[in-house]
Order: sequence, then structure tokens, then C-alpha cells
Amino acid sequence: MAFLAMLLVGLLLFPLSAIAQSYQNVSLGSSLTTSDVTSFWPSPSDEFAFGFQKIGNESRYLLAIWFNKITDKTIVWSANRNNLALDGSKVQLSADGRLVLTDPNGQEMWAHGMANAELAYGAMLDNGNFVLATSSSDTLWQSLNEPTDTILPGQVLNQGNRLVSSFSDTNISSGRFEFILQTDGNLVLYTVNYPAEATNTAYWSPMSVGSGYQVIFNQSGFIFLQAKNGTLTNLISSNVENSRSQSMYHRAILEYDGVFRHYVHPKSSGREPMAWSSLYNIPDNICLSIRQGTGGGACGFNSLCSIGTDQRPRCDCPLGYILDDPNDKLGSCRQNFSEQNCNQESREVESFTFHEMLNTNWPDSDYESHRDVSEDWCRQNCLSDCFCAVAIYSDDNICWKKRYPLSNGRVGPTIGGKALIKIRKDNSTMGSPNVEIRKKKNQSTLIISGSVLLASSVFMNLILILLALVYIFKFKGKKRKRTASYSAVPGVNLRSFSYKELEQATNGFKEELGTGAFSTVYKAVLDDENGKVVAVKKLRNMVTEGEVEEVFEAEVNSISRTNHKNLVQLLGFCNEGQHRLLVYEHMKAGSIAHLLFKDSRLSWSKRVQVAIDTAKGLCYLHEECSTQIIHCDIKPQNVLLDENLTAKIADFGMAKLLKKHQTQTTTRIRGTKGYVAPDWFRSMPVTVKVDVYSFGVLLLGLICCRKNYEQDVANENEMILLEWAYDLWSMSFHISKTMVYKCVLSFIYTTIT
Ligand SMILES: *[C@@H]1O[C@H](CO)[C@@H](O)[C@H](O)[C@H]1NC(C)=O
Ligand SMILES: *[C@@H]1O[C@H](CO)[C@@H](O)[C@H](O)[C@H]1NC(C)=O
Ligand SMILES: *[C@@H]1O[C@H](CO)[C@@H](O)[C@H](O)[C@H]1NC(C)=O
Ligand SMILES: *[C@@H]1O[C@H](CO)[C@@H](O)[C@H](O)[C@H]1NC(C)=O
Ligand SMILES: *[C@@H]1O[C@H](CO)[C@@H](O)[C@H](O)[C@H]1NC(C)=O
Ligand SMILES: *[C@@H]1O[C@H](CO)[C@@H](O)[C@H](O)[C@H]1NC(C)=O
Ligand SMILES: *[C@@H]1O[C@H](CO)[C@@H](O)[C@H](O)[C@H]1NC(C)=O
Repeated sequence: MAFLAMLLVGLLLFPLSAIAQSYQNVSLGSSLTTSDVTSFWPSPSDEFAFGFQKIGNESRYLLAIWFNKITDKTIVWSANRNNLALDGSKVQLSADGRLVLTDPNGQEMWAHGMANAELAYGAMLDNGNFVLATSSSDTLWQSLNEPTDTILPGQVLNQGNRLVSSFSDTNISSGRFEFILQTDGNLVLYTVNYPAEATNTAYWSPMSVGSGYQVIFNQSGFIFLQAKNGTLTNLISSNVENSRSQSMYHRAILEYDGVFRHYVHPKSSGREPMAWSSLYNIPDNICLSIRQGTGGGACGFNSLCSIGTDQRPRCDCPLGYILDDPNDKLGSCRQNFSEQNCNQESREVESFTFHEMLNTNWPDSDYESHRDVSEDWCRQNCLSDCFCAVAIYSDDNICWKKRYPLSNGRVGPTIGGKALIKIRKDNSTMGSPNVEIRKKKNQSTLIISGSVLLASSVFMNLILILLALVYIFKFKGKKRKRTASYSAVPGVNLRSFSYKELEQATNGFKEELGTGAFSTVYKAVLDDENGKVVAVKKLRNMVTEGEVEEVFEAEVNSISRTNHKNLVQLLGFCNEGQHRLLVYEHMKAGSIAHLLFKDSRLSWSKRVQVAIDTAKGLCYLHEECSTQIIHCDIKPQNVLLDENLTAKIADFGMAKLLKKHQTQTTTRIRGTKGYVAPDWFRSMPVTVKVDVYSFGVLLLGLICCRKNYEQDVANENEMILLEWAYDLWSMSFHISKTMVYKCVLSFIYTTIT
């Protein structure tokens, strides 16, 4: 045992750089065949391997280099991605000094450059490089010089070198995006007009122009662009986990979705999570970054790109459109109806209708625009124009008419205007929900894409949200009479309500859903939106003075720019006279306070999910949305559940809103006793940490199914949950463990019930 332990320690401490120098030679004449994928040429430490990997389930093989010690066996280089080898193929280090891949008939499929009589051996190195070398160890050829879509630490891209993405998450052949250090010194990302090599305009490039000489991925996990004189001109990705760089594998890859991502993966097992996680990606939002005159954009033509909470783009066909190639989920969509007749006599105007989508646009597909027109005019005009595939009615009363095929389609909270998508009134196409659900298929068969697919559950959630939105908009399309506009806040699709409308909808503010220090929430039914149920929050103590209205709208605007599945969505507002109201989506299942502290306890797994959901929402507010939002009042009453029991944070953005509206004399703390971080009382600056503290208290509440403060307890010590937990924690160091067991038992009890 002791020996083993020493061996392990020795292995761990052994400097990697030293290992990286040693070679495990492949001698001339050696070969590998597809019939035995368990044999390969490993690197000395076994971290990388060179050999065949089976792709898909149809006996196709890729000659590749992969991370050999991780379960994913992630591929970092390949020879024949566009021409997979059949069963019976062979790779050989031939006697004439070449590395050759031959098909079952002995025909050459791939070979590295020239035959070289000096070739003495090949070797898979510990840095992921496969080299062919002379007897004096001079390198004749190395795989690092011919990257596919991945670069590794130690690797350099010279001018003219490029990474080409794979075609899709399940198809590794070269695809539609390129990352290239051009010979003019510019580092750029391009979309390729697949399958030809022609590129469209670049969609990303760092600030420095024309000074790039090499892209370097150094051993400490930094990726940067370097000028010829050795100065660093642009840091592309920095290794935020610098201290742990030796315990992590790194790779940077241009993925099939056009995003260049820097990934890390723990080397030793036991470190969670044992999967690739993304450190950095460019561009930030590929849906918005790609906007070019030719090409479809981030997705194919007529498709709509949106970014999931996992930062991955999704492509969806609008209602009435279907995928051109059902297997190409990121590809173009086409109309699933016969096109409009352009004949003057029979324009078929009455056979067409619009599918309405907010926050949607296809910029640059316009062929005509009309200013200062009404939406109805825009609709009629597009309906009777057989060239018009989509009209965008913008907030400033402009009607933009767009032609088929539509390009650069995107959906997102920052996109203004209303898209009117013209479709044929046909029961068959109207009946099905619009969004093509693009299921990931057969993930397990493709090892290469394992890491790419990690976040597919997030995808599913996004799909659900999209579907829900679609249903809402679909039904709304029928009622055109409504006068309320969506244009009260430029660029954001919020509905502005009149006080009277809300008074009616709430039936005179009759049914109270909840009440807080500054507001009361009422249930409301929007008759003009098919009886949709919403929650109307009426703010109290609002002082009307000077610019108050502007401030209110600015704040509402910033709240409305948030968009996350774990946040309660703001739908509209009313800002009229002294009335300030906010309209939110209605959360059927109410707050978790209601479910936790009353008779019907949530199951353990549900509570875990609530904790995760809340954390995700909080993380978004703190780190992911464009302006950081500190909630300041995280407590069970502010975590609501929808009908699927997805937890959503409510009441965010209020801290700022209320502060600006309070008179100077009111310096009331917004938080709730028991959940407020002690910092606040010490008049320290309020940071996101106050929310983290409150979240901690909430977590304890979730675990123990009780309020922070409860009078009705057996033992006086247990009255304040926080203090009880602290006592248990500090006692667990020295005293008997019974108290701890008690808490554990109470977990188990609640898990069972
Ligand atoms: C291969 O996988 C596809 C789905 O990915 C499936 O339809 C097909 O039947 C499979 N073929 C074999 C030979 O298993
Ligand atoms: C690999 O071959 C080279 C050249 O023949 C030699 O110098 C080196 O020692 C060999 N390495 C191993 C591990 O056999
Ligand atoms: C991958 O996509 C390309 C381009 O559409 C296609 O030609 C090829 O057959 C696909 N390969 C596989 C294995 O599906
Ligand atoms: C990698 O690059 C970063 C940034 O330039 C630098 O701080 C670091 O020392 C470099 N590491 C190595 C091993 O060169
Ligand atoms: C190195 O080259 C860059 C870009 O060409 C230039 O901006 C910088 O001043 C140069 N630095 C030195 C020390 O020459
Ligand atoms: C659509 O359905 C309705 C009733 O189900 C039918 O009357 C109408 O003819 C259908 N229209 C088309 C275009 O099929
Ligand atoms: C496409 O149109 C056909 C015929 O109108 C219909 O049967 C089919 O369901 C439609 N497909 C989709 C995805 O809407």
C-alpha cells in the first residue's frame, strides 16, 4: 500500500515538462487497422493517443488523436474528417518514410506530405502532437502544424493557419465556420458558404488590426495573439484557473456552432465535474455577432437564432417553415406552403395570414420600407405584396418589408420590433406548434461531441419557454383591435397598460396574491389576450416628482432586459399619474414559503431543484445580465413556482427602483429580517454577497423545511434556524454527534414523506 501511495505521489509530482520530452517510438513498418480500435499508439504518459476512432454506428473510422485518459476520449486532431475510413482500412508508417492511410483496397486515402528517406520513427508526444522524426530527432512532420478545429497548450497558429469547425454536433466533416490568422496579420472568424471555401464577411476580429503574427496557446493556458516583435497584441482567453492549470487539461476549439471556446477538464478523477467546462468563448452572442450581406447568418436562411442560458445558439424555423434538410438542425428552413400567387387577378390575399413574433428580426433582408404607417397598414401592404415574406413593424412606426430567403435571423430580448411572418392559412401547417423541436439524437454514439452536448437539458427548458411564448403569440394574432402599444419603451417589447385597463383586469384590485412592504400583488385576467392570467404589482409610497416617470421607465426597461427561465418575467407596466404598476407572468404554484412551511411539503428532490433553479437565477442577475442586479431581498416569499414547479425569482430590480423613488429621509433597509446579511447593519457597501448570504439562509430553510424564525419548537436553541445550524456546525467539531444526526434524520424524514 505504502509503495503504491508513494508511486502515486511520485507520479503526481513528476514535472510534466520532463515527461513531455520523452518519446515512445513507433518504428518504421508499424501499422494500425480499423479492425482493432483497442490498439493505438499512446503517448508515454498515456494522456494522448493516435489511432482509429469509430464514428457513428455505421463502421466509419477516423484517424485521430484524442485525450486518452478521460472517458470522453475527446478528439483533438484528425486526418480524414471529410472522408471517413471504411472497415479494413489501415494506417502505416511505411518503409519509404511516409505515414499513410489506405482504404480496404489498399488505395491511399491520406498521407502526410513527402516521402523522406531520413524518417526513423514516429511518436505520439504528451502534448498531443504526433511527430515523424529523423534518427537525430529532427522533426519532419507534426500534426500540430495541421490543426483541424482544435488547438492545445503549446500549440501555435502561424499566419495562414486556420481552424475549421465541424459540420454539426453529430457530423465531424468540415463545416461552416473558420478561425483564421490571415497572412495580412488579422485574426478573424468567418462563416463559410458551405460546401465551397468562399467566406462571407468576418464576424469577429480582435481590436488590433494587421499586427498578428502568431496565435499562441501557452502552457499555462493563455491564448493570445502575438506580434512579430514578440509583444502580446491581444489576449484571446486567459486562464482564470491559473493556479490549477497543471491539474487541468485545456483545449480550444472552433465548434460547429461557430463559437470559439476554451475548455478545461480536470485531469485527476474525483474532481467534479469530470467533464469539459467552458472557460471562455468568442463571440459573446453569436446570433447578434453575425450580420452579413451574404450567407444565412449564424443559422441557415429563414431560421431564427437565439442564445440559450448555456450560451449556445439554437436555430429554429418559424411557424409554417420546416428544415430544408431534416438532418441539418442548424441549416436553412423553407416555407412549408405553396408560395403566394403573384398574378394581379388572384393575389390570394385572403389565403394568407401573419404569425406574430416579438423580439424577432431578420436584419438586412429588406427590400422596401414605409415610414409613419400603422401596423394595420403594414399588414395589409405585406399581405397584398407577393414579394413580402415578412414585415417588421418597428417601434418607430416603420414597416420594413423583407424578401425570401431571410437571413441573419435572431430572437432575443434586446431585439425590438414585431415580426409579422406571412404564412398560408392552412390547417395542416397552422395546427402544429411552430418551433421545430430539434432533439439531439444519439448522443452516446458520438464520442467526439460528448462534451459539446453537456447542456442539453437547458436546451429542453428553453424549448419549453419558446413553445409557451409561441402559443401566447399565436392566439393573440386573432385580436387586432387592441390600442395599447408595445412601443412605450424603445427596443423592449413591454406592454404599457392604462390604469383603467389594470383596474378592470384585476376586477377593481380584488384578489390579492400577496403583499409586501412596498407593494401589493393582485391577480388579473387580460381579456384581450385570451383570458391570460397575470400578476399585477401595485407599488406604494411612490413619490411623484420631477423626473420620476423617466426613472421609473428606465428601471422598468432594465428589469425587462433580463431574460432567464429562473426569473419571473415582466410583461408590462403602468405609469400614469401617481400610479406605478408592474405586470408579471402569473406563477400558478405560488411561493415556496407557501409550500415549505404549510402542510404539503415539497419532496427532497423538488427542493434540491428549487435550490438549483434559484441559484441559476441569482447567478444570472449577478453575473450574466448586462447590468448587474443585486436583489437585496432573497427569501422564500420571493421564490415562486410555476405550474411545472420551476422556481423563479421574483421582485428583482426593485431595490434600485424603490431607492430612487423614496424621499431622502426614508433609509429603510429593503431586506427581510433573518435573511439580511450582517454587512448591511454595519453600513458596509452592499455587494452581491448580501444575496449570497440570504440564499444561504434560504438553503437552510429548504433543507429543514422551516422558517428562519420559528417559535413553536421543542428546544429553545432551535428557534432561529441560522443560529441552530451554526451551533450544530461548531459543536460537530468536538461534542457528541447526536445533534448532527438529528438534523440528518430530519432530512431523511422529509425525503421520505
Ligand atoms: C444508426 O443510428 C441511427 C440513428 O442515429 C439509426 O436510425 C440506425 O438504425 C442505426 N444503424 C444501425 C446499423 O444501428
Ligand atoms: C526513439 O528513437 C530515437 C532515434 O532513434 C532515439 O534517440 C530515442 O532514444 C528513442 N526513444 C525511445 C523511447 O525508444
Ligand atoms: C456530414 O455532412 C456533410 C455535409 O452535409 C455530408 O455530406 C456528409 O454525408 C455528412 N456525414 C455524415 C456522417 O452524416
Ligand atoms: C502564458 O502567457 C501569460 C500571458 O502572457 C503569461 O502571464 C504566462 O507567464 C505565460 N506562461 C508561460 C508558461 O509562458
Ligand atoms: C511590436 O509590434 C507592435 C505591432 O506591430 C507595435 O505596436 C509595438 O510598438 C512593437 N513593440 C516594440 C517593442 O517594437
Ligand atoms: C380548415 O379546417 C376547417 C374546419 O376544420 C375547414 O372548414 C377548412 O376548409 C379547412 N381549410 C383548409 C384550407 O383546409
Ligand atoms: C408541412 O405541410 C404538410 C402539408 O401541408 C403538413 O402535413 C405537415 O405537417 C407540415 N409540416 C410541418 C412541420 O408543419
